[in-house]
Amino acid sequence: MKIEAAKRIDQIPPYLFAEIDKKKEEMRRKGVDLIDLGIGDPDLPTPKPIIERLKNSSDDPKNHRYPSYEGMIEFRAAVVQWFEKRFGVKCSPQSEVLALIGSKEGIAHIPLAFVNPGDYVLVPSPGYPVYRVSTLFAGGIPYFLPLRKENCFLPRLSEIPEAIAQRAKLLFINYPNNPTSAIAEKPFFEEVVAFARRYQIIVCHDAAYSEVAFDGYRPLSFFEIEGAKEVGIEFHSLSKTFNMTGWRIGFAVGCSEIISVLGRVKTNIDSGVFQAIQEAGIAALDHFDTPLPEIIKVYEGRRDVMVNGLREIGLEVDQPKATFYLWIRVPKGYTSARFAALLLERVGIVATPGNGFGEEGEGYIRMALTVDEKRLEEAIGRLKRIKF
Ligand SMILES: Cc1ncc(COP(=O)(O)O)c(C=O)c1O
Repeated sequence: MKIEAAKRIDQIPPYLFAEIDKKKEEMRRKGVDLIDLGIGDPDLPTPKPIIERLKNSSDDPKNHRYPSYEGMIEFRAAVVQWFEKRFGVKCSPQSEVLALIGSKEGIAHIPLAFVNPGDYVLVPSPGYPVYRVSTLFAGGIPYFLPLRKENCFLPRLSEIPEAIAQRAKLLFINYPNNPTSAIAEKPFFEEVVAFARRYQIIVCHDAAYSEVAFDGYRPLSFFEIEGAKEVGIEFHSLSKTFNMTGWRIGFAVGCSEIISVLGRVKTNIDSGVFQAIQEAGIAALDHFDTPLPEIIKVYEGRRDVMVNGLREIGLEVDQPKATFYLWIRVPKGYTSARFAALLLERVGIVATPGNGFGEEGEGYIRMALTVDEKRLEEAIGRLKRIKF
């Protein structure tokens, strides 16, 4: 039998990391000690009280049955409490919160809820690849909004052609930002609310890194802005906040009509988050002040080692106020892919080529601070050995 993938699968852009992955495997086989700064996955463990709560909760037979797709009311109530404590924003646990199997799940499903074939979706470039792919899966057309250094990596909404804005259904934004590590302040979010109202566009704010912020900086929720709740949904994650990437738990907060339609997609596709994990999520949200100082201190130390070291070498990098990513300009004469390949081949350092996040990421590489300080010092030592 001839096995033929659906056309939507063929639409997925080519896997830009394939070449790097192949080389990584080759080097590993040769016994090269790789320092992998390519992966945005915390190396630190989940805090003990959260693990303990999972252990206890997993013994309870009531948690062995199907969970409700929208999340336990106790989990949604914990979200509401945390949201008010952290951002000063009130929400209804019944109608304005939805548990997610990681924020990726919500981001991947939201175009199915709102995008008709041929609708535009405004997608940042560079950006988290799921915005583009979920748009394509829903039959939408991604319209890329360049994030450039001269604009502090914020999209210029005024430059979106009128005809595109008129036909756009969703706008994805993400601050603190992956991969650029940029942050957004109130005036930008206010502009987003006005733009969304004017063109009747649903704002999807991806706040997965809201709790990875340094030097006392506290990222905003989009909903701290007047009128934002009427036009948007915000995706949150326990993954990076509590080192829980493997647990698969996040949530969406927002306009009740948007939450309800996304919920309708979810009822038909998944069966919610394992309740024992939701109970562990409640423990996390109830018992810890976020950003979690122990985690932040570790990333701050790593950030300082890397930023200082990279600048000493002569590479151009901004000191991030949030996220555990460094967005590094490649030296003159290199493309993102060539520079990433050079680092891998010459000194066994894995970095992600910026163009993997969209065309506008060309000219950069991304490094993740997900290995310990000693290894980062070693990485800097190795980088000093090469001439760019
Ligand atoms: C910008 C951004 N959004 C969302 C996610 C998904 O996180 P999770 O599904 O673990 O909540 C990630 C993961 O790396 C991310 O970088």
